[in-house]
Amino acid sequence: MQVIEAVQGLRRHLVDLRQDSIALVPTMGCLHAGHVSLIRKAKRLADVVVVSIYVNPLQFGEGEDFEQYPRTFEEDVRICEAEGVDVLFHPHNLYADDGAKITLKVHDMDCVLCGASRVGHFDGVVTVVNMLFNIVQPNLAVFGEKDWQQLTILRRMVADLHMPVSIVGSALIREKDGLAMSSRNRYLKDNERQQALFLSQVLRLMQQLALQGKTNKHILDLGLKYLAKSHIQVEYLDIRHEHSLLPSMRMPLTTDRLFVAATIGQTRLIDNMPLLENLEKVE
Ligand code: PAF
Repeated sequence: MQVIEAVQGLRRHLVDLRQDSIALVPTMGCLHAGHVSLIRKAKRLADVVVVSIYVNPLQFGEGEDFEQYPRTFEEDVRICEAEGVDVLFHPHNLYADDGAKITLKVHDMDCVLCGASRVGHFDGVVTVVNMLFNIVQPNLAVFGEKDWQQLTILRRMVADLHMPVSIVGSALIREKDGLAMSSRNRYLKDNERQQALFLSQVLRLMQQLALQGKTNKHILDLGLKYLAKSHIQVEYLDIRHEHSLLPSMRMPLTTDRLFVAATIGQTRLIDNMPLLENLEKVE
């Protein structure tokens, strides 16, 4: 595996590999089993796998955890090597010395769910992913479904901007007890780790209510009541169309998705699930 820090160095290295298909797995490091599943999917779909590790300052707002974001580079290298990654791209900085003067802007899709509280976050994400696409020029890029809103926005970015890259989603990976895997889980103290289970539990409860034929309003009301018992700071609990992210209709549809975000102690966590699991899709 080649570890490359410079954009020019990466470009030179990839010249000879361009006759093969290239998959990019963009990450911010602190790799866990969720990332490993992205890498494995990339390996199944392409000849060459490039993983990028870059904690992108532009997607962190004021007061967010950019400085504290866990950086575990040596362990990340070990994981990438064990998974047969071809190139690990680890730039120190991707922005001009005098700051980012040209960036991309997301419209509407960033006013809901995580975007409502993390103003500018998705602009930072699309800007850096666009940079990574320009640098690596991959045939495809793999992103986790855990960040469903991010995945949806990135799909829309390549469609709207006619970018020659396929966006591939990869299923969210959970701990045995249901907690969605996240680099931020390592911030949780023991009691907070227990409280965090409320997130997947409430989504499962809402799935059961949908199967019982309840209306989406009823499902949401009961979900919120359940979370109120948990004493965690709920940012949102919502049912939205999985692609447009628009509010759901009156009754559950197979295109509906459940979304939750909450802060537990100092740690902000998110989760999502289809409202009607394992039912055939009717668009
Ligand atoms: O999902 C992430 O880890 C980041 O948002 C990404 C896509 C690597 C962009 O910085």
